[in-house]
Amino acid sequence: MQHDTFLAGRTRNMGSSAIREILKLAARPDIISLGGGMPSPDAFPTEFIDELYRRAMDHYGTEALQYTRTEGFPALRKALVDHLAGQNIEVGADEVFVTTGSQSVLDAMGKILVSPGDHIAVEAPTYLGALQAFNPYEPSYVQIDTDEYGLIPESLERVIAEHNPKFAYLSPTFQNPTGRTLSLDRRKQVAEIIRRSDTLVIEDDPYGALRYRGEWAPPIQTFAPEQVVYTGSFSKVFAPGLRVGYYVAPERVRQWLVIAKQGVDLNTSSLTQALCTEFIAGGYHDRHLPKIIEIYRPKQEVMLEEMKRHFPDSFTWTQPDGGMFIWAEGPAEADMEKIYEEGIRNKVAFVPGKFFYSDPESGRATMRLNFTVNSEENIRTAIERLGASIRNVLSG
Ligand SMILES: Cc1ncc(COP(=O)(O)O)c(C=O)c1O
Repeated sequence: MQHDTFLAGRTRNMGSSAIREILKLAARPDIISLGGGMPSPDAFPTEFIDELYRRAMDHYGTEALQYTRTEGFPALRKALVDHLAGQNIEVGADEVFVTTGSQSVLDAMGKILVSPGDHIAVEAPTYLGALQAFNPYEPSYVQIDTDEYGLIPESLERVIAEHNPKFAYLSPTFQNPTGRTLSLDRRKQVAEIIRRSDTLVIEDDPYGALRYRGEWAPPIQTFAPEQVVYTGSFSKVFAPGLRVGYYVAPERVRQWLVIAKQGVDLNTSSLTQALCTEFIAGGYHDRHLPKIIEIYRPKQEVMLEEMKRHFPDSFTWTQPDGGMFIWAEGPAEADMEKIYEEGIRNKVAFVPGKFFYSDPESGRATMRLNFTVNSEENIRTAIERLGASIRNVLSG
């Protein structure tokens, strides 16, 4: 049977990500991979997960095992009100919505807003998983220029004026892949631009709580609530295996997002939502977050130190105040695919940066490095190997 003949036209846009193919090599046990994007298992709250489960059963009983509202488990929506107020996001419980990871918000936004050929504006580079979520809806992407401080507001303004995108997808805090954070001034500028042009923005914020230094800045949503769908996640502060995310959105958009979700999964797991409720309402989040930060901060410092020692002077890289990634850029002749192959020979892996651009010609001399998963010792070894791999390719 020719199963391909049955496939919908939209699957043309859905090719399994090339990054998966390339990272298959990185799964070899002798290779230290800086390519992943996962939290460290050491950061999971295994010591009190039983306690959370017991509390959830005591408080909610069979309600935590029943279907729940598509909008979210009522107790979690309530608990999220205070949680979001800590970010200056002022909403009532009926204005917070729970989703199956923040990833599913990205898919739902594509589903309700994008017809084939519509424009979506994305940062250059951007989160690869967002491109994968939007691709089935057959958009045309337009790139927003960035510099070392994140997206350039004037470029966003130009992109909006020239392409009238359905929405702009932005990740202003510890962005994946660069780790960059938009300054308060730029956030206000972005808010002013999207208010003036009445442009919808997705503000994706799964890393905001992972701050190792520097000053917090309020989400763009707080300056333009009618233009912004703000989404957060428990994946990086609790555990990604729970698959719980949440969002705040303008009224008409959230009505459609709920309708879209009804047809996809009816509701996000009641049980894991009950665990998340106890995690925040019981004060566990506030006690646990500093532990995660104390695991990640030294790993990031080690990586930055070792890069200074081993990377050639022709390379530059980000010095993020938080998050999970460092982004490096070499001279134009640094072909990261060649460096990747050389890295594999030297038993180290990373993600070549070109995968994070909607334009396949961009980012050939860039790379993303993750520092959360490996031990400090392995990070040292990996960066030494990577430095040697880069030098071999550049001198060869
Ligand atoms: C920028 C960004 N957005 C969204 C997600 C999806 O996260 P979740 O586990 O909440 O679906 C990720 C996951 O790594 C991410 O990096």
